[in-house]
Amino acid sequence: MAYIVDLRSDTVTKPTESMKHAMVNSAVGDDVFGEDPTVNALESKLANLLGKQAALFVPSGTMANLIAIMVHCNKRGSEAMVGNLSHIFRYEQGGAAHVAGVLLSTIQNKPDGTFDLQEVENRIRGSDIHEPITSMIAIENTHNVCGGKVLPLQWVDDLSELCKRHSIPLHLDGARLMNAAAYLSASPERLVRGVDSVSMCFSKGLSAPVGSALVGSYHFIQQARRMRKMLGGGWRQAGVLAAAAIVALDEIAPQLGLDHKRAYRLGKVVEGLFLKTFSVDVESQHTNIVLVRISERSSLNADQVLTRLAQVSLAETQGDCKTPNDEGVIVKAICFNDKTMRFTLHCEVSDADLWLAIMKITFVFKELDAAYPIKS
Ligand SMILES: Cc1ncc(COP(=O)(O)O)c(C=O)c1O
Repeated sequence: MAYIVDLRSDTVTKPTESMKHAMVNSAVGDDVFGEDPTVNALESKLANLLGKQAALFVPSGTMANLIAIMVHCNKRGSEAMVGNLSHIFRYEQGGAAHVAGVLLSTIQNKPDGTFDLQEVENRIRGSDIHEPITSMIAIENTHNVCGGKVLPLQWVDDLSELCKRHSIPLHLDGARLMNAAAYLSASPERLVRGVDSVSMCFSKGLSAPVGSALVGSYHFIQQARRMRKMLGGGWRQAGVLAAAAIVALDEIAPQLGLDHKRAYRLGKVVEGLFLKTFSVDVESQHTNIVLVRISERSSLNADQVLTRLAQVSLAETQGDCKTPNDEGVIVKAICFNDKTMRFTLHCEVSDADLWLAIMKITFVFKELDAAYPIKS
């Protein structure tokens, strides 16, 4: 048996003991009737936290984003403008088209997760009869594919200004909003001040088992509640889940900075190996995600590296790559593309786990760097 350090995603986190306690003891009722006291408490807490009028507890981040699209783009012939690297565009099965009948129009993300505001302005459509109507613009903070990047506040403020000028609602996919707030040492309210709606997740770095939320105006949330029901997300005694989300906000959110420090440490170690095959841009790493890139001049691909990280060789266990009980170590991560791997830190990775992961990654990266010489 090998010891596994799972860095695939912060979604692998399980409910903490205090979450389980809160879940068992939560007061519940039928949330479709608006009678679950714990869900109601969570929704008020969120509206307060983000400085908006109302909130809605929903099963997933994907559903939260889809509902936002359905509410903002409720006119036929609508389009939502999103980043080409956004979760909405890449990882939600095109639900906007599939379910909502909304065209997704993509705008190129820059490496920091932003996009060009002049291009946004030029791309707004709807004044001409031939065109769809741009009915929503969405941003993502932190930006997952860009490596957990936190969007600059000024950029969000400028985009918000632009959206207001054109009367287009601005939606924030804030699945990891609390990570962004921790990085900036700013209140979550400040981060969402200029946006009309926000989705955020409890089931990622916040360690709750299930659940996301949509936050916005009374009117928006009223419409969102209807859409949630239509999508089959009208849940009943959901207080057992909301209880965990409340603990997530109270107890896990304040500790997110620790995950960021551990991610920085991992990035620094990989950078400090000075290998030709692997690189990390540590200086532009903001939160809990470490992107390791494989040189384009190497024949190695990300799948091969992940396969090797999931194996234990005799040689590595004869060195430091083992637990105090002499177990070998497996590190799990995911590949974003052929040449990019994502390692995600979360609250279930202790300093001891991080140390084991560092030993393993160091061993494997050095081994592969030697075995796959860079082409000149
Ligand atoms: C940025 C972002 N948005 C939305 C989601 C979707 O969340 P869920 O998996 O709860 O549907 C994810 C999931 O990882 C995400 O990273």
